Amino acid sequence: MGISVLIIGGGGREHALAWKISKSPLVSKVYAAPGNPGIARHAECVPLATDDLDGLRKFAVSKRIDLTVVGPETPLAAGLTDLLTKEGLLVCGPDRAGAQMEGSKVFMKTILRKYGIPTASFKVFEEYDEAEQYLLTHRLPVVVKADGLAAGKGVAVAQTYEEGIAFLKDVMERRVFGPAGERVVIEECLPGEEASYIVFTDGDRFVPLPSSQDHKRIGDNDTGPNTGGMGAYSPAPVVTPEVEARVHREIFEPLLAGLRAEGIVFRGILYAGLMIERGVPRVLEFNVRFGDPEAQPLFLRLKSDLVPLLLQCARGEIADAKMEIDPRPTVCVVMSSGGYPGKYEVGRPIEGIEEAEKEEGVVVFHAGTSMKEDRVVNHGGRVLGVTAIGDTLKDAIARAYRAVDKIHWEGAYWRTDIGRKALTRGNG
Ligand code: AMP
Ligand code: GLY
Repeated sequence: MGISVLIIGGGGREHALAWKISKSPLVSKVYAAPGNPGIARHAECVPLATDDLDGLRKFAVSKRIDLTVVGPETPLAAGLTDLLTKEGLLVCGPDRAGAQMEGSKVFMKTILRKYGIPTASFKVFEEYDEAEQYLLTHRLPVVVKADGLAAGKGVAVAQTYEEGIAFLKDVMERRVFGPAGERVVIEECLPGEEASYIVFTDGDRFVPLPSSQDHKRIGDNDTGPNTGGMGAYSPAPVVTPEVEARVHREIFEPLLAGLRAEGIVFRGILYAGLMIERGVPRVLEFNVRFGDPEAQPLFLRLKSDLVPLLLQCARGEIADAKMEIDPRPTVCVVMSSGGYPGKYEVGRPIEGIEEAEKEEGVVVFHAGTSMKEDRVVNHGGRVLGVTAIGDTLKDAIARAYRAVDKIHWEGAYWRTDIGRKALTRGNG
């Protein structure tokens, strides 16, 4: 008998987790809460919401789940790991204290400053008037961030003072993000190119995944509003071996030591959002979970079993963790509901997913889908993650878009330039 695994979440990242975890010879049963129709191919979906902490605890206890893997940040920040750990269960994902690395920008930035980790210079404010006064003296562009979780919408890179003040008012006075706006961070705008760097850690040692890059804006050529991520690819050529060595030495090593000095043993996934300027990496943000959609192209490159690493993180003992990575690049094109990240229509039947998956090297991960009268329909903003591997990035991109062309629903939207930035660097 293998172990039982419970995956928390129901998006594209969690589909990629379920797809990968269900392949493990160590695993005999996979549950997902709440899951989605794609996840249902690899796991038994349980109708429990990710914020139903008590329901999740009861379920995990009743099934004596051997390993819980938490996809999104909100249950981590709310203390799901603490609850399950108290019941003697293993969880890959930090406790509430560790989750502050994502749950509070003030906490995260203060730790970075204290332990000398390169990041944008910043100031913290609790009073609107003081924040406004400071903002007006700051060089443009200026970055304003709500302290708490705001579903990726809590940041403005303001090009003008009017923009900065409007956002500050939204956050601190109108409280559009609720208590997340009790404090703000105002920081300098860093130039450079962004990349994602994700590691498994037991709080002491860490094992990195390859680099990746997300595409946060809705429109081609990085235009329009921010989204949860419209596509990703791996590796990101901006993360050269030299940059990678610096990321280990200047960011992850001092950070883990610093967290331990603060009494925090971080067991789970730590994701650094980096800005890289002429070979110098600086931290934009930390997440305490896998990236979505970065997990999709990353897991497609992971040849070895994911489960031993997840278990070792949860147990706090990363030992002989070897990862075998496919050297070939991967890309994930997110297909979204037209109108996202604003309003959009749901319930439209989706055609062609099976056809798309006949394309060699392609896996279609479900994100915002549901079943309606035996048909898969769009249900969320980000709907599918069409993910492909190729001998070159150019091949991977071509395959992913050939697959995308086979998928149809009314109002479907996708960016047409995922991965292009890496090609123009001459790494295709
Ligand atoms: P965050 O949630 O902190 O990652 O911010 C969301 C996005 O805002 C990032 O992915 C960047 O594109 C941008 N951003 C955040 N902080 C900065 C900064 N200090 N300088 C430039 N861009 C930033
Ligand atoms: N793709 C960005 C994130 O997962 O936060």
